[in-house]
Amino acid sequence: MIPTRFAILVAAALAVVPAAHVFAHGDVTPQPIDTAGLEPLGEEWRKENPYRENPKAIEIGASGYNQNCARCHGLEVISGGLAPDLRYLEKGEQGDTWFLERIRHGAKKSDGTTIMPGFEGTFSQEAMWAIRAYVESVHVD
Ligand code: HEC
Repeated sequence: MIPTRFAILVAAALAVVPAAHVFAHGDVTPQPIDTAGLEPLGEEWRKENPYRENPKAIEIGASGYNQNCARCHGLEVISGGLAPDLRYLEKGEQGDTWFLERIRHGAKKSDGTTIMPGFEGTFSQEAMWAIRAYVESVHVD
């Protein structure tokens, strides 16, 4: 009887491991962002957000943010401490540059562990700037 129960416990413990592993790497399936209705931007990366204060972009970005970024950066951009609070990200072009760098390439710790996944190849440039428009719309000083 005891060996059987032990085997079940081991199996249960092992079943938990892959989930923990995936979480540690932030490797959760990204949710698609529908950017229909936004002006297409082409291939070349913009230096500045072409959708700043664009209401349609803010609406699309709010949904994209809450589905893809909020689990780390907090719902409504109010961080619970797991990742930086993006409401404080600088407004304007300087904030844009840093935003684009992070959303495209993500972030790693010095030991190489991914702490934020990069979204280049997953989200279009339009989707990224829509999220930026939303984040900037809730900026606090
Ligand atoms: C798995 C958790 C996770 C997810 C998901 C995530 N981030 Fe991050 N993000 C982080 C962490 C952790 C940092 C801090 C990186 C560092 O310290 O260098 C960060 C940093 C940033 C920064 C730089 C902030 C600063 O003040 O320097 C931006 C901008 C950013 N993330 C945007 C986003 C956006 C937009 C999304 C969604 C598309 C997103 N992140 C999804 C964890 C995450």
